[in-house]
Amino acid sequence: MPKIIEAEQLSHTYLPGSVYEHQALKDINFSLDRGKVLGIFGPNGSGKSTLAQHFNGLLRPTGGSMLVCGLNTADPKISKDLWKKAGLVFQYPEQQIFQISVYDEIAYGPRNLGLPEREIKARVAEALQQVGLTREKTAPLTPASLSGGLRRKVAIAGMLAIRPELLILDEPMASLDLAGRRFILDIIKKRRQKNETTIIISHSLKEIMTITDKIAILDKGFLAFFGDVKDLLTRTEILARYHFELPEFLQVLLALSARGFDLKTNVRSMQEASKEILSLLKKTKARPIFGSGKDDA
Ligand SMILES: Nc1ncnc2c1ncn2[C@@H]1O[C@H](COP(=O)(O)OP(=O)(O)O)[C@@H](O)[C@H]1O
Ligand SMILES: [Mg+2]
Repeated sequence: MPKIIEAEQLSHTYLPGSVYEHQALKDINFSLDRGKVLGIFGPNGSGKSTLAQHFNGLLRPTGGSMLVCGLNTADPKISKDLWKKAGLVFQYPEQQIFQISVYDEIAYGPRNLGLPEREIKARVAEALQQVGLTREKTAPLTPASLSGGLRRKVAIAGMLAIRPELLILDEPMASLDLAGRRFILDIIKKRRQKNETTIIISHSLKEIMTITDKIAILDKGFLAFFGDVKDLLTRTEILARYHFELPEFLQVLLALSARGFDLKTNVRSMQEASKEILSLLKKTKARPIFGSGKDDA
């Protein structure tokens, strides 16, 4: 399967040679197949946003290499092509909103693609709809006056309007309400159906585990884990170390597993979890799980 991302011993040092020198990424190796959804986790300061900016070529490796959509991000000349292929929505959307109207903000990318005005209009309408907004609702608003949640939606719509092969969302759920979060999940699901790749940085495994194929965990600039979600769910020591926000059903399974009960923890839905618990109950019918009741009295 063609790879959309190939990171080889990727390193990034901020302000090298100065007193503020800081290595934010250290020897990162992984590749991602086209059409997949990658979730990136890690504590604050672990290098997630730095890595995100390597996916759209905004930052260049100071060591190793990074290929995105077949383009080597070490080469400054690729930026004129890469922005059309890889769209990054920043962790802080105020860093990328500059236009005087919401329409112009979202139309900015399609205009730079040189599309005719009719097509631009259609793309803006489609992108607004994908994030749960309308032209009528947003027309009276200026980007500078938007609330945090709306600003994020507009920033996401601006990237969607470019229709990038790779969409990178840096902590997009922050400042969004439940409905807004659902729109994000829906956008990712639809992209996956069209074999378009999405990378999402999040704090909550609970929120995105049903839609991610691969998970990367960063820790102090190192890639501490890269693999399938199902594999991560068997790694109880990693789950405990990084304090992911987990779904309740998984917390129950992990607690039972920690107490020595023989069950699978690599399940992604409530239904799968109840199956596991039912089969455990069947297996332990002759031997009650939580004592006979007599001794507990
Ligand atoms: N522009 C910058 N200049 C210098 N250091 C930076 C810069 N941006 C981030 N860092 C440092 O790099 C490390 C990783 O930051 P970041 O990628 O933002 O982490 P995360 O997104 O996981 O919170 C942190 O120690 C941070 O202070
Ligand atoms: Mg960050």
